[in-house]
Amino acid sequence: MAITSRQELIKRYIEFFKSKKHKHIPSSSLIPENDPTVLFTTAGMHPLVPYLSGEKHPLGSRLVNVQKCIRTQDIDEVGDSIHHTFFEMLGNWSLGDYFKKEAIQFSFEFLTKELKLPLNKIAITCFGGDKRVPQLPVDKESSEIWIDLGIPKERIAFLEGGVFESKKNWWGPAGETGPCGPDTEMFYWSSSKPAPKKFNPEDENWVEIWNDVFMQYEKTKANSYIQLKQKNVDTGMGVERTLAVLNGLEDNYLTSIFQPVTKEIEKISNKKYGKNKEDTKAMRIIADHARASIFILGDERAIKPSNIGQGYVLRRLIRRAVRYGKLLGIKESFMHHLIHPILEVYPDYQELHRNHKFIEQELKSEEERFNSTLEKGLKKFKELSKEKLISGKDAFLLFQSYGFPIEFTEELADEAGIKVDLEEYNEEFKRHQDLSRTSSAGMFKSGLADDSEATRKLHTATHLLNEALRIVLKDKEIKQKGSNITPERLRFDFNFPRKLTEEEIKEIERLINKKIKDGLEIIREEIPLEQAISSGAQHEFNARYPELVSVYTIQDKSEKGGWFSKEFCTGPHVNNTSELGSFKITKEESVSAGIRRIKAVVG
Ligand code: ALA
Repeated sequence: MAITSRQELIKRYIEFFKSKKHKHIPSSSLIPENDPTVLFTTAGMHPLVPYLSGEKHPLGSRLVNVQKCIRTQDIDEVGDSIHHTFFEMLGNWSLGDYFKKEAIQFSFEFLTKELKLPLNKIAITCFGGDKRVPQLPVDKESSEIWIDLGIPKERIAFLEGGVFESKKNWWGPAGETGPCGPDTEMFYWSSSKPAPKKFNPEDENWVEIWNDVFMQYEKTKANSYIQLKQKNVDTGMGVERTLAVLNGLEDNYLTSIFQPVTKEIEKISNKKYGKNKEDTKAMRIIADHARASIFILGDERAIKPSNIGQGYVLRRLIRRAVRYGKLLGIKESFMHHLIHPILEVYPDYQELHRNHKFIEQELKSEEERFNSTLEKGLKKFKELSKEKLISGKDAFLLFQSYGFPIEFTEELADEAGIKVDLEEYNEEFKRHQDLSRTSSAGMFKSGLADDSEATRKLHTATHLLNEALRIVLKDKEIKQKGSNITPERLRFDFNFPRKLTEEEIKEIERLINKKIKDGLEIIREEIPLEQAISSGAQHEFNARYPELVSVYTIQDKSEKGGWFSKEFCTGPHVNNTSELGSFKITKEESVSAGIRRIKAVVG
């Protein structure tokens, strides 16, 4: 049966790898949980980083899934026939299980037997060495395996990692640090002309469809590459691209994934897809950005448009789509009309359907907000563009008063053949951020009398206590209702309806002393408010917080998520729980109806 839908392709892939003893895991959120260095999940391996680094995965050492991903570095390329911001990635993983031989065999079998792709349209690149990791030789082993399977020698090219940046055979890490390694990539001849015998990776008719990464390194903060405890395989196959080649299409937007949405855009704009270059580009951008925005809004983490982090990317996507709508001649608000034709292609992502209303509200209000300033902003831009250079201050004005993301202003400037002073813009942006941060600094009150070493220890003990209470008393609703710390003791108020028993107090002490003995590291991060809230960090429910908040995490590998406690807090704290020595509760009493008070000491 021909594979014409994404669901069919996904099903075939998952079933194939299940037959090879892989366990199917669900797609994770688009917002990475443990990686503050990137805004979005960029690959299927991203949520698996702890397991690639050696932690045991509960489902074993062979996994398979389809992962929703966003790569914003490709945003400027969107508008051509193959680039997307949002895409789905199929992947299979070996966590210290099989390595090159089986991985390549699986890939070969899936492509040639399951998808029935003709061998004479397949080409391969292998790793040709990398100056950064001199101990790694040219990957002859992989090329031998491919040759044994029947790939002709002249269809295999060796590319150096890092040297040929555009077509390098090295993948990762996903963020700034983490697992990475050399890879072998599979290409498919997408043109109707016959495929040349000799493979030239620069020929764009060869489309990359799958990547097998041999993940055996960890890139560290110090920029060095150290061996991982285990050798892993991480693979990635783009659903959109593969579906296009399977259907003999050179344009991903002509697949069944995009057909409903482009039809709707044609209807709204009264223009025809494919008729002329500008309109086609605009329709692709709208379709792509609408899909990405809907997936961000519909994600479990409920991101909204804002001026920071993921919310900022979302804002950029929506506003860019709206502007291209205007270029197509669309007068009314239209983004919300694209929800249905996009959702109908994704019946399997429950969260999108659950959050349908939220998606609709947010798309509508963001489009309206932008529409109210767009005309005036464009007028202002026109005035400013009389000069050859838009100053950073003016670009900031366009951002602050007219809602033009800087990338948007750059795009307009590019079209007008002028430049933007980015450096000055960044300075201006930072200056305003610092101002708003200072004015909000007073909002975090940790109840500290001073910041001596003694109070720092007791402050960290307070965070441990806050978490331990919820665990031992088995009540997730317990919240901090007050805190006061002197160099001698901590005092912590919380909601709970009754007196604590002797055993409960003992158990709280035991748990905290264990966490002290475990020597857990404490880290501070500044993260966007929404991300901080959705990470599960403790905070006051109705308090007003700035857009960037400071969060303290007591890291703990033995706990789910890799941490024991997470709280909005400005500190200061100790660096490691072992500095506390020991913990003892000296008093437990009532302060008012439903509120209990604990006093405790450390050392
Ligand atoms: N993580 C690899 C990629 O994204 C498989 O290509």
